[in-house]
Amino acid sequence: MRLPAADVSDDALDDAARALRDARRVVALTGAGISADSGLPTFRGAKNGLWQRFAPEDLATPEAFAREPDLVWAWYQWRRALVARARPNAGHVALVEIERRAPAFTLVTQNVDGLHRAAGSRNVITLHGELMTDRCSGCGNETPCDVDPSFADAPVERLDPARCVDCAAPLRPAVVWFGERLPAGALEAAAEAASAAELLLVVGTSGVVYPAAALAPLAQRSGARVIVINTDPAAPPGMLELRGPASELLPRLVSLAW
Ligand code: OAD
Repeated sequence: MRLPAADVSDDALDDAARALRDARRVVALTGAGISADSGLPTFRGAKNGLWQRFAPEDLATPEAFAREPDLVWAWYQWRRALVARARPNAGHVALVEIERRAPAFTLVTQNVDGLHRAAGSRNVITLHGELMTDRCSGCGNETPCDVDPSFADAPVERLDPARCVDCAAPLRPAVVWFGERLPAGALEAAAEAASAAELLLVVGTSGVVYPAAALAPLAQRSGARVIVINTDPAAPPGMLELRGPASELLPRLVSLAW
């Protein structure tokens, strides 16, 4: 895959690298854009083939699952097949290095693909759950999901959900759907880290889904420097924007900082 090259001045990168080196408490907030460079489609912007006529809000809800479980399950089995063959990229790896170097580091992610942990990040708060885990819609039991790798290239539009071995209710992915609560304690821990941060890196997120979208303004109000890394213009006033692919800019930032 060819990525757009970064459009960043040396001054802006130096400034960001200095802020990274000097900060005692660093937080990164990531979204689908950081995994785009691992070949995973984002939610808003990328062409998602079979699914482009659906908004994520129309598939990722309890109502959609109740109404058309086979459509929702097929969408998730496709995404799981893509994730199963994806590997962490240089952006994920650079965040592992930042965790190693910074005196305190918290990674808050909206991603459900598990690539941060696969890269080696340790202090990770997953706001939206885990794609590769099933949760029983009846008894709540959680188990690792089955993946059919063929769905990555040949997705199907409808597939009946697998059933719980204990209670036979349909399984669903252990992700947070629109209208559902975040995992217990996750938002509180993320907000605590953001309000204590000296530097917040906001990487590859459109910043439109709440409550995650409230974390950058919270950090800024609490006195943190906020640096936004995104291929598109995404930085509100007062935040430093580094425009380009995360897999290029994060490693450059790390090598300038240390
Ligand atoms: P989006 O798809 O909304 O946004 C992805 C962002 O990444 C966009 O701003 C892109 O410009 C940017 N981007 C794309 N490629 C990039 C790259 N190589 N490097 C840096 N930036 C890049 O994804 P999220 O913001 O993660 O929630 O979406 C938030 C939530 O909406 C998701 O967690 C999911 C979704 O519906 C739930 O499912 C609950």
